[in-house]
Amino acid sequence: RKTAPMPDDIRAMKGGTPIVSLTAYTTPMAQMMDDHCDFVLVGDSVGMVLHGLPSTLGVTMEMMVMHGRAVARGLSKAMMVVDMPFGSYEETPAQAFRNAAILMAETGAGAVKLEGGQHMADTIAFLVARGIPVMAHIGLTPQSINTLGGYKVQGRDDQADMLMADAQAVTDAGAFSVVLEKVPARLADRITAEIAIPTIGIGASAGCDGQILVVDDMLGLFTTFKPKFVKRFGNLGRDGEAAIKAYADEVRARHFPAPEHTFAEKAPGK
Ligand code: KIV
Ligand code: NA
Repeated sequence: RKTAPMPDDIRAMKGGTPIVSLTAYTTPMAQMMDDHCDFVLVGDSVGMVLHGLPSTLGVTMEMMVMHGRAVARGLSKAMMVVDMPFGSYEETPAQAFRNAAILMAETGAGAVKLEGGQHMADTIAFLVARGIPVMAHIGLTPQSINTLGGYKVQGRDDQADMLMADAQAVTDAGAFSVVLEKVPARLADRITAEIAIPTIGIGASAGCDGQILVVDDMLGLFTTFKPKFVKRFGNLGRDGEAAIKAYADEVRARHFPAPEHTFAEKAPGK
């Protein structure tokens, strides 16, 4: 593919080759994934992953704009989606539109993502009707951690119908896809079969229409905790610390910088 897909292209991938996505927060990370992902999410996980916040609740519009702009500079083939941060969209559809428009205009994102099912359906419809493609996010919604009572699996037992209704509500509201986070695999498969838009799983099922992970988690760079659903495809945290230790040792031994890293007094060729 030569140009970035549009939300409708992502929607059309329903039931086909799985949609590949990761989060990114910086230009070099975005460049690394541009050839391999269908879309890249500037997740509000940036607060925990890059800024050391204890949850995503402290993430601001300013942070999303800044990281969105950085990621945009690294992408030419993958679509970019930006998360709406906590407090920027829940109050009214008008508030959500105002802030979604800022995110789209200032970052060049092709779509926004927001958390919530049935209770956010009116807002999703309001945004879509006014030109803003929306990716929904249901199941474990980290911005509601204080009312959910922890990072627990969602949709188990008698919660399953509720989650199915959430998936149907965001579909009917016009979302072009929906993230299913930390839900039982069989329920994720049932939702995927039932709704007309692609499901993007994280801690869900290989049967979803696509997958997403937090890039620093899958690279082994964010090691503060590892959810069960994360697979570490690399160990950059360990490798990075080893590199930093080697640097410290070489500086203390005056082995770095070596002659090839220094400059002669005379300009070359003089
Ligand atoms: O913020 C984030 O990284 C996300 C993904 C995990 C879906 O919302
Ligand atoms: Na998020």
